[in-house]
Amino acid sequence: MQMKRGRWACLGVVVALLTEFASESAAADSTNGRRIAERWCAECHVVAPGQRQASDAVPTFAQIGRSERFDEATLATFLANPHHSRMPNLSLTRSEIADLVAYIKRQVR
Ligand code: HEC
Repeated sequence: MQMKRGRWACLGVVVALLTEFASESAAADSTNGRRIAERWCAECHVVAPGQRQASDAVPTFAQIGRSERFDEATLATFLANPHHSRMPNLSLTRSEIADLVAYIKRQVR
């Protein structure tokens, strides 16, 4: 009996985590993503069509959004830890990352 209850509790935790994850990604807000991008990324990247100034040799968000190397998941992983590159680690939260990914991916549609 004891065992059985433990297992249900465990299942409850898993369900709770999955629900949280699902609602978090559903809540990704590309408008907020744009705000974050303009504040933290526009110095180097062209983050929106019509932006004039950014660094040379830095991919635009439209290019990144279109890139076959990045889907939502790989983009989020990169932003959580942009280790390899000349790009700074901006210590974004998970929800900021979700919003940015939504924004970057929206540029392609
Ligand atoms: C200080 C300049 C700078 C800032 C600020 C910056 N980036 Fe970058 N980013 C770069 C450079 C430079 C590269 C190219 C890196 C390379 O090729 O090694 C890059 C590459 C990337 C890539 C593609 C990496 C790849 O492997 O192709 C993504 C995605 C990206 N940046 C997202 C962002 C986001 C989102 C922000 C804002 C939260 C941001 N960057 C802010 C300089 C910056």
